[in-house]
Amino acid sequence: MKVLGAAWDELYSVMAQMVQGLFRHGLPLTDKIAARTALTNFFLHIHPVRVRRSWIRMSYTLCLGGLSFFLFIVLTVTGLYLMFYYVPSVEHAYQDMYDLKFVVTFGGVIRNMHRWAAHAMVITVWLHVARVFYTGAYKKPREFNWAIGTTLLLITLLLSFTGYLLPWDQLSIWAITVGTNMARYAPIAGPYTRYLMLGGKVVGANALLRFYVAHVVGLPLVAFLLMVVHFWRVRKDGFSGGL
Ligand code: HEM
Repeated sequence: MKVLGAAWDELYSVMAQMVQGLFRHGLPLTDKIAARTALTNFFLHIHPVRVRRSWIRMSYTLCLGGLSFFLFIVLTVTGLYLMFYYVPSVEHAYQDMYDLKFVVTFGGVIRNMHRWAAHAMVITVWLHVARVFYTGAYKKPREFNWAIGTTLLLITLLLSFTGYLLPWDQLSIWAITVGTNMARYAPIAGPYTRYLMLGGKVVGANALLRFYVAHVVGLPLVAFLLMVVHFWRVRKDGFSGGL
């Protein structure tokens, strides 16, 4: 019985140590503990230590940045699912999209979630830009975050553009033909940019592979890294609603 009691005590102290390791602060009942909680908790550290309720009121931010991030997560998760069934080759791409709709379990639902979330993200990011602009939140000291934001906007649009080719149907092939032809008319770098994007002079197998790699690896990775910097700046600069 004594041995059992000692083992129990040992187990209890190990568990207590583990819980203490995870939650390094008590309940945030005082300002001091609340500040320590925000500083040491991974999930809360995105907010500055002190945030007044009025600074983050929904009627001010409209949660548009948060919504854009949520949609990015939805796109990542559904996109990963689609990757299991899609092969970016001229022979397979169209048929794979077809099978996703009619053969793969939940394929149609996941594909539509991906498609609608993509449209929605373009809209929420634009609205977020408008909110930031109309509330003057781009002014000092947030100019750097505005610059990071413009790059995020560009990447969001490029993600949408590159994803458009992947179904490899008539609509997507001609849309990208027109889109990249427009890029060709940019001064000096235009023709090179188009050649670089397509890996040739027409929208063919090379273009499909390039767009796929940019869509599933390059652009999401850069977007994620920029979002980390974006959120870190929001935390450091504080919310403009507090001005
Ligand atoms: C993928 C795109 C983006 C995501 C996920 C994102 C996310 C966020 C979040 C969560 C916030 C804090 C809460 C809020 O204001 O809603 C924020 C603030 C901010 N964002 Fe974005 N953002 C994105 C794109 C942009 C763009 C395109 C711009 C500008 C061109 C921009 C500029 C700013 C600025 C200046 C702030 C600080 C606003 C303030 O303090 O009131 N963001 N962003």
